[in-house]
Amino acid sequence: MKVVACIILLSLFLIVLVFVSRSVQNNIDRNDRLRDQQSDVIPGGGNENLFWFVQVSDIHVSRYRGFGRAPDLKAFCDTHLKIIKPKLVIASGDLTDAKCSDLDGSKQFHDEWQTYHESFKYCQQFVKTWLDLRGNHDAFDTPALNHKDNLFRQYSAQGKDHPSSYSYLHQEPFGKYSFVAVDASPNPGPKRPFNFFGYIRKDGETALTTYLNEAKTSNMTIAFGHYPTSLIGTQSGNNIRNILSNVTAYLCGHLHTLAGIVPQMFARHKTGMLELELGDWKDERIYRVLAVDHDILSIVDVVKDRWPVVIITNPKEASLMAPVHEPLYRINKSTHIRILIFTDGEVNNIDVYIDSIYWGKAKQSDGPLYVLPWKPDKISPGVHSIKVVIKDSLNGEYIKEQLFSLDGTSPLLPFKGRFLLMLDIAQLAQAIYCFIVVVYIGVLVLLHQCNSLESHLFAVVRHSSIFKPFLTFYNSWLYRVWLVTKINNIYYSLLGAILYVSFGPWLFGQMMEGHTGVVFVWGMFVHGSYLPVCLTYFYGIFQVITFNIPLTMLLGYHLNYKQLGYSRKTLCHTVRHIYFPFLALILFQTYIASSEFPSAYGTRALVLGPLRTGSIIFGLVMFYIVRNIKIPRRSSSP
Ligand SMILES: *[C@@H]1O[C@H](CO)[C@@H](O)[C@H](O)[C@H]1NC(C)=O
Ligand SMILES: *[C@@H]1O[C@H](CO)[C@@H](O)[C@H](O)[C@H]1NC(C)=O
Ligand SMILES: *[C@@H]1O[C@H](CO)[C@@H](O)[C@H](O)[C@H]1NC(C)=O
Repeated sequence: MKVVACIILLSLFLIVLVFVSRSVQNNIDRNDRLRDQQSDVIPGGGNENLFWFVQVSDIHVSRYRGFGRAPDLKAFCDTHLKIIKPKLVIASGDLTDAKCSDLDGSKQFHDEWQTYHESFKYCQQFVKTWLDLRGNHDAFDTPALNHKDNLFRQYSAQGKDHPSSYSYLHQEPFGKYSFVAVDASPNPGPKRPFNFFGYIRKDGETALTTYLNEAKTSNMTIAFGHYPTSLIGTQSGNNIRNILSNVTAYLCGHLHTLAGIVPQMFARHKTGMLELELGDWKDERIYRVLAVDHDILSIVDVVKDRWPVVIITNPKEASLMAPVHEPLYRINKSTHIRILIFTDGEVNNIDVYIDSIYWGKAKQSDGPLYVLPWKPDKISPGVHSIKVVIKDSLNGEYIKEQLFSLDGTSPLLPFKGRFLLMLDIAQLAQAIYCFIVVVYIGVLVLLHQCNSLESHLFAVVRHSSIFKPFLTFYNSWLYRVWLVTKINNIYYSLLGAILYVSFGPWLFGQMMEGHTGVVFVWGMFVHGSYLPVCLTYFYGIFQVITFNIPLTMLLGYHLNYKQLGYSRKTLCHTVRHIYFPFLALILFQTYIASSEFPSAYGTRALVLGPLRTGSIIFGLVMFYIVRNIKIPRRSSSP
């Protein structure tokens, strides 16, 4: 009895002990967390925990065109950097244009690089740290990083010490900020256009991973490169977005604004990383100011000479929040709205509205920082808008409006930009190419198998009149292609031709000065290396659509024409229906065969260009066979 009571008491005691210790532990945890958050840096009314920097991209200093690009860059530094006073400038590739006067050829020019060198040296009066890296244009025709033709090494700000990827640590009294340059320019670098996609080899990836690991102790890591991640492949097969998964934002260029179609190309990847593509300096004179305020990143993209330049750093723009990488809880503990205003005039008045309700006047805190006290706990969950109306002595009234949220609600970014940055464009192009080729082969093979076509044609009579023209059209072309597949020489030749596009060498040419390379749809061999070109799939799609498919249809049309006995009609009729379309096809093929690749890769690409030059000959031979073939007459076709 006593023993049982003893055991019960003991176990009760133990339970109580565990419970008490648990709650003590919990209290300690909670106290820790509370102390953490209390000692935490909260956005207030002062200028602490704040710095900003600038990005420019795609400068394209050229000896043949756009002569204002370099002088405008200097003028930008003189006026804008003097006012903005950023801690550093990032120049994310395509520093020079490196295109010949004909726009097809490409090579590195000393004078373009000298101009770039002179320009950034001039700018360094205003900002010492100039982080530049190569873009695809800076890598045209560069056999190796240490080759004398890699002028980036000789003339750029970073190239001497960092010919490829590198990292830069920016230290502030309140934190450490890592900047990692991601060089994805193909190495060796072929001449244009076949370096449009980026490619990181294993050694490049290892170096990059090292820099990213070193950056782990920083408050924030910002990566920048020339190519968007949707255009970067790796030798290891690792996705670049996973390699960069601990990065807050990846800044890039390369796609410019797609000729104005996509002015803002922003995305947030699954890893929480923001990808922010910047429009070009080349034609649009766009630049970006980025502010890191209490470890929260805000940006504004602006055109040169448009003042004032305004960033509302607290509360941050809701669609660009990176919750995995940013301490966003600081927004709803902050005591002040914080606005950076850079202007060449003088700020006279700043009115702040939240959800169109007047909130007060922001006052200058220090330098370009203006603040206004607020109480975020008064603001309901969900998305709100903040509007700032600035009156400036030189520039009149300027309105900046953005969305924010305190509970992490984040509206979607514009679709077009998101789409372009989140895709894997190389894989998509490859898939489309394969699809077209498989359908083409499938149609030819199936039709070849049919002995009579009647069961495969739509019975037109039964259908209503809306579909009738379409079905008649479909039937007649199906019939014509069927005729083609019934002539064995032609059938096998056409199959051979499409297989050649998919597997055979397209051209041999001077992929780099003094280095002959060979291009396939699936990649290029040059200077002892294999390079998956990716862009070739777009060229493949173009080739099949502009040559293989129309040739097949024209041959079918010709056969049908003979069958119906039209060839006995006037010469004029035959010229219009047969010779003229065929001539157009051959002339177009001759034009592209003799212009693009030969002027990019030398005359060898014309002579040894089985894809395009060979297609002309192939087309002529096919036409000759069909012209001379004897075919039984038929009174009508479906
Ligand atoms: C940066 O990180 C350090 C160490 O984690 C921290 O003490 C500091 O408060 C951070 N800075 C900011 C601005 O949050
Ligand atoms: C990202 O950071 C986390 C935590 O430090 C770490 O476990 C992970 O391996 C990192 N990822 C990469 C790709 O470096
Ligand atoms: C403040 O931030 C936390 C964490 O980000 C969030 O859960 C909470 O809902 C926010 N508070 C308000 C009032 O929205």
